[in-house]
Amino acid sequence: MASLVPYPPPPGIDKYLPSPQRTGEFFLTLTYATSLDSHLSIPLTQVPLSGPEAKSLTHHLRTFHDAILIGVGTAIIDDPGLNSRLLGTPITRQPRPVILDPTFRWKITRESRVVQTARRGEGLAPYVFVRSEVGIEGDERKGILEEVGGKVVVIETLGKQRWSWHVLSEKMKELGLNSIMVEGGGGVINGLLAEENLPLVDSMIVTIAPIYLGQDGVNVSPPAVLSAEDGKRTLAVKFKGVEWRILGRDVVMLARPDL
Ligand SMILES: NC(=O)c1ccc[n+]([C@@H]2O[C@H](COP(=O)([O-])OP(=O)(O)OC[C@H]3O[C@@H](n4cnc5c(N)ncnc54)[C@H](OP(=O)(O)O)[C@@H]3O)[C@@H](O)[C@H]2O)c1
Repeated sequence: MASLVPYPPPPGIDKYLPSPQRTGEFFLTLTYATSLDSHLSIPLTQVPLSGPEAKSLTHHLRTFHDAILIGVGTAIIDDPGLNSRLLGTPITRQPRPVILDPTFRWKITRESRVVQTARRGEGLAPYVFVRSEVGIEGDERKGILEEVGGKVVVIETLGKQRWSWHVLSEKMKELGLNSIMVEGGGGVINGLLAEENLPLVDSMIVTIAPIYLGQDGVNVSPPAVLSAEDGKRTLAVKFKGVEWRILGRDVVMLARPDL
């Protein structure tokens, strides 16, 4: 894949990023691009939503994080490279790809883009998080990951529930991944925006593209929240420190959840 020529990042973006001077505290940035009808894509399809300026911003943001995290749905549909393609990005600024794949259903091969990217030295190899019940010994995919410096990370679980984000953040800290950029897709984002996980989100950087994808897309809409006072529906997620930037034909929201 060709390198991207960087556009200047929008002013003030640093306030929404992990500080380079951090001393080990965990920082999670949630970032994605959405249509006007709050869809990430058309089901089972990769739809480019961002214009070149916002795309350059995403690749700039990647260089400020220890890891980029996606769900297995995105890994399968997009076959992503999960690196920063900004011209001149050194390997030391490349993030570690993390893929949530509890049943290890991603058919990763030596031809997968993330493996080829790591082999060329243009990005780091992925860590694939799987459930402890999954048998990985003798699985060829484990070898393919390890050949390029990646690995399968087994997370102990009881039953088939989704991993809590508290468990995931502890696991990432154990792996030395203290700043995480969560990029999607819908299943991952809606889970993270749920009331019990929201306190882990430090910063939101959301690109809104001037596009409608139409009904039944891959939607971002967090679970409904009931008020503790009267049990009635209330706002699901509010924000503070909200700033907007116009990037070419897109608009970008910079914000923090208001808990
Ligand atoms: N516009 C954008 O910025 C953007 C960014 C990324 C992706 N996308 C698009 O989003 C679409 C894919 O979204 P998606 O919702 O289908 O898939 P996804 O969110 O990428 O992956 C969802 C899967 O990840 C696993 N998972 C997620 N959270 C988990 C947790 N807490 N614990 C355990 N496992 C967890 C589950 O796997 P199992 O089902 O195996 O349990 C879940 O079904 C694609 O079309 C892609 O192009 C768009």
